[in-house]
Amino acid sequence: MNTKIWDLRQMEQSSEELDALNEMKDIFENGGLIALPTETVYGLGADARNEQAIHKVYEAKGRPSDNPLIVHIHTLDQIDAFSSGITDEIKKLMKAFWPGPISFIVPLKKGYLCRSVSGGLDSIAVRMPSHPIGRRILQFVDLPIAAPSANLSGRPSPTTFEHVYHDLDGRVDGIVNGDQSEVGLESTVLDCTQFPFRIARPGSITQLMIEAILPNCITTQGALDIDKPIAPGMKYKHYAPDTPVKIIDSLEHQPSSNKNWDKTAFILPRSMRKLVPESATFITLCKDENDIRGANHNLYQILHQLDQDNHIEQAYILGFPINDESTAIMNRMMKAADQVIVKGEEL
Ligand code: TXA
Ligand code: MG
Repeated sequence: MNTKIWDLRQMEQSSEELDALNEMKDIFENGGLIALPTETVYGLGADARNEQAIHKVYEAKGRPSDNPLIVHIHTLDQIDAFSSGITDEIKKLMKAFWPGPISFIVPLKKGYLCRSVSGGLDSIAVRMPSHPIGRRILQFVDLPIAAPSANLSGRPSPTTFEHVYHDLDGRVDGIVNGDQSEVGLESTVLDCTQFPFRIARPGSITQLMIEAILPNCITTQGALDIDKPIAPGMKYKHYAPDTPVKIIDSLEHQPSSNKNWDKTAFILPRSMRKLVPESATFITLCKDENDIRGANHNLYQILHQLDQDNHIEQAYILGFPINDESTAIMNRMMKAADQVIVKGEEL
């Protein structure tokens, strides 16, 4: 398949942009697949009403089809067609955080979306992204667009055009270039099918941020238990680069100089650079030990980089103490590291 590339970054309101948008609308309406930028990660979009299109999404990603997809919208009015379960509480949260990096699982009204978008469940995840280009496309095509992360199943989620191109060139109808995703981690998934709500996947919109809008609306039962999958997608091996990665709990001194660090990368805040052994590779995780947003933004880019660099055979990454803001990145790091945490002082 010949994959078309669009770069809408310098095209705002031009006739070229209009041509490109019309072309994309055509592709979606005919059941095609287009990868597009969002502020969390790039998504692989398809018309959520079209069973064959959704089937192609699972096929292109090599993803098991019992794993439900998130439906992307550009206006709240679109939800009425596929859910009648939006309570005032849910609406309050949607209005507070949308457009933005949070998905809500709500009761599904059958008949409008195709069956496999929800993996046969009677609930559906929905999100309104804020990325200017992603949003522009959703507005123009005006369809509910199902979009999982635009990576091959089991690979880290894509945060740049290049990541998507590497995984999906030749497998999809088109890819839209829109710079590096600002947030860098997949959206928070909030299960609103029961009250109190439950965080099914932690993200950059945290429990405290949600409860600042709607006090005591979240049950923490099981939420921090990284081992137990809640969202069905979390039971598959995810986010893992081919290069073995271990989390280090802290690093106070330079690791032993008696060891050969030639093929080892240390992924640390810039403020800790002086602790990296001379023969090792230093990769910047973020500014300093408090810069969780920076680490969120960079993590997947770093995991992709590890696999491209044939010189690196193992990597150590600094973990963050678990708190409200670090829950999401620690959840992803634990998966990338296959749950392995080592003590920095023993290196
Ligand atoms: O940031 C994001 O959410 C990105 C961008 C593209 O929007 N999308 C994304 O989609 O990460 P995906 O398919 O890779 O992850 C969707 C997650 C999975 O863990 C899935 O199991 C869960 O949401 N999910 C979707 N619908 C669900 C439902 N009805 N019940 C429980 N979990 C659901
Ligand atoms: Mg994914």
